[in-house]
Amino acid sequence: MTFRTLDTADLAGKRAMVRVDFNVPVDGGPNGNQVTDDTRLRAALPTIHYLSKQGAKVVLLAHFDRPKGKVVPEMSLGFVAEPLSALLEQPVAFASDCIGDEAAKVVNSLENGGVALLENVRFHAGEEKNDADFAKALAANGDVYVNDAFSAAHRAHASTEGLAKLLPAYPGLSMQRELEALDAALGNPKKPVIGIVGGSKVSTKLDLLNNLVAKLDRLAIGGGMANTFLFAQGHDVGGSLCEKDLADTAREIMKKADAAGCELLLPVDVVVAKKVAPGVETAVRALNEVQADDLILDAGPESATRLLAAMDQSITLIWNGPLGVFEVPPFDEATVSAAKHAASLAKSGKLVAVAGGGDTVAALNHAGVSADFTFVSTAGGAFLEWMEGKTLPGVAALEA
Ligand code: 3PG
Repeated sequence: MTFRTLDTADLAGKRAMVRVDFNVPVDGGPNGNQVTDDTRLRAALPTIHYLSKQGAKVVLLAHFDRPKGKVVPEMSLGFVAEPLSALLEQPVAFASDCIGDEAAKVVNSLENGGVALLENVRFHAGEEKNDADFAKALAANGDVYVNDAFSAAHRAHASTEGLAKLLPAYPGLSMQRELEALDAALGNPKKPVIGIVGGSKVSTKLDLLNNLVAKLDRLAIGGGMANTFLFAQGHDVGGSLCEKDLADTAREIMKKADAAGCELLLPVDVVVAKKVAPGVETAVRALNEVQADDLILDAGPESATRLLAAMDQSITLIWNGPLGVFEVPPFDEATVSAAKHAASLAKSGKLVAVAGGGDTVAALNHAGVSADFTFVSTAGGAFLEWMEGKTLPGVAALEA
């Protein structure tokens, strides 16, 4: 796909409508919502600074939570203006509606370089319906449209898709960086490419697995979903999490991988315990030694060693989902050792290492290595849909 880039836009004195993702985690105390993790606010800063420096009037559009087309006061975006203003080190005006007179009044009072945040776009039913009139009402306050919200780009909504058809459209700087990283990981990667897919259930990652086995040279499967594959191969997984009804599906994925020349790396040994609790007694078992009351909670040391060696033979890594119950040590060992190894290869320029998805970000942070990865996407649903090979409407709409 080809996109216009912001450096080609005529911005001075123009109203730049920027779709950001301020759907931030909050702590809702008696004084209203407080931002508990400002990653998404920080992600918007480079674009806002750039536009502001170019003399644009920056008009921020965002959603918060799921008010379903109604005004829900607890879901107002007002609480974001102050922390955003502190990060930007400049005032952020807030408009109590994203369309109509109220929005126009605030936008028209901006000086060049000024910043305004408009109220939750999902307070209007037209947003999620991608209603043409609602998109027009939004567009009335903008001259150019900038989408800097990759994490909301899987939604075909008025502010993520419709607007791009009404105004000259550009990806923001964070969106552009994310698209470039994802292209380097899966779109046009340097080969060989290895994937790691973990997490608890095969059922939530069927499309993703089917897409990846057709594209990658190697795919390591970990977490609870690996148990379903081991079961499908005829191994006893004891009392472990396992979707036995998906054994046929797992066999089909294995067949598809084989036909496509994708080497599947399943655990060859496992760490088991009788319950999931910190510091419980654990054992490493070969696959034919798992007992009826064992719970498989992590990949074993031999499996981890093989995965590390496979990374050494790869140029690109794409990772989604932990290899074990990393939140409960010691079942974090395989995930942490894989994360540290990938990070050190990436740091020394030997591996393009891209990871994403909620649990994955938490696992890499737990291992203390996020900063050394080539790119870590904090997008949840959008990252998964992209790994599934789906077209993201918010990205497609930006195509020049
Ligand atoms: C997210 O938080 O993943 C995005 O902002 C999308 O939110 P949604 O799932 O409510 O559309």
